[in-house]
Amino acid sequence: MLFPLGSGITTKVLPPTKVPVKLLLDNHGRVIDYLRLSITDRCNLRCRYCRPEKGVPFIPQNEILSFEELERLVTIFCQLGIKKVRVTGGEPFSRRGCLPFLQRLKKIEGLQDLHITTNGVKTAKYLDALAELGLAGINLSLDTLDPKRFWRITRRDYLESVVDSLHGTLEHGIPLKINSVVLDDTSDDEIVQLVELARKYSVTLRFIEKMPFSGISRSKKHLCSSLSIRLKNILPTLEELSPNFPTTARTFSVKGFNGKLGIIEGYSRLFCNTCNKVRITATGLLKTCLYDNGVLDLKKMLREGTDDQEISRAIKNCIQTRFINGHETERFTSKQDVEPSMASIGG
Ligand code: GTP
Ligand code: 5AD
Ligand code: SF4
Repeated sequence: MLFPLGSGITTKVLPPTKVPVKLLLDNHGRVIDYLRLSITDRCNLRCRYCRPEKGVPFIPQNEILSFEELERLVTIFCQLGIKKVRVTGGEPFSRRGCLPFLQRLKKIEGLQDLHITTNGVKTAKYLDALAELGLAGINLSLDTLDPKRFWRITRRDYLESVVDSLHGTLEHGIPLKINSVVLDDTSDDEIVQLVELARKYSVTLRFIEKMPFSGISRSKKHLCSSLSIRLKNILPTLEELSPNFPTTARTFSVKGFNGKLGIIEGYSRLFCNTCNKVRITATGLLKTCLYDNGVLDLKKMLREGTDDQEISRAIKNCIQTRFINGHETERFTSKQDVEPSMASIGG
């Protein structure tokens, strides 16, 4: 049973021996317990679905939240009820000081699970420290195992380093998910090659619908074919699993596989009814939906000397006025001719 205490916060009454759990609820009754934090827009790859090769100038350093500012915000969010934090970029390890920052975040009261999403180019050398830290998981972006295609997609030649990070993560026993964005020209052969990873290793390989966050001109029609139909054609023995927690991915098991497969229908937006997350962009905007333009300027509040209580109130207010789903958000959000770049949103 839930007893509202104020805007967005409720206390769940548990059996007497347990401490009451703080829940942050949105205006549609969804529990918000997951915060994504983009710590930089910089990246050592130039994935064509995420940013133009040239053209998006890097955001000046003083416009990016400092680690101290980020730490303060995460502390406030955890006091509100956030339990899971995912650090993203750009590429998080492109920002100097990322590892010590993760180590500081891990100590924040209330934060239960710390994750990162990384492109794997520089990740291998941090794995000892990340395992020691007790990182809850690494999501690794890898769209193809074909070196030529890797170059065509990322405009860089780092496939080997990414594959090293993949194996290193497994060796260190850190839970691993692989993110593969399916592009208009992704072939079935490439999909089959990637699927082999889930057959051999204990990983969750998730195929992702491409979303309109490329940093280049908005195309008239955004093409997106059904991933579930495509995957079932390739692997007819897929068995869909029913999750008991909110998730963006539909996950499947396959007989004889060590790992699992998944699809993230982020363009179709079929999972919004269980959306449990908010985001902070590299420049300190709070987003309560991936498809909004930012609903609160947290950087401004921090730099104008606003106190924690006031910031907390403003955050709760935004969480209490969310759109019900990403389609509604898109409908009521103004659009530029140029798509925003996923690099500064953080995925
Ligand atoms: P888990 O925490 O492991 O479930 O991962 P995640 O899916 O939340 O995060 P990840 O950084 O691995 O992102 C994988 C893909 O899902 C990226 O393409 C993200 O843009 C997309 N994604 C993550 N969250 C959302 C969301 O709330 N809405 C939409 N539309 N896409 C999302
Ligand atoms: N559409 C879908 N996923 C994207 N990502 C980056 N840009 C896009 C896009 N336009 C993915 C990356 C990474 C995650 C954070 O978001 O591949 O795995
Ligand atoms: Fe949440 Fe928006 Fe993503 Fe839907 S599209 S799951 S509302 S962030």
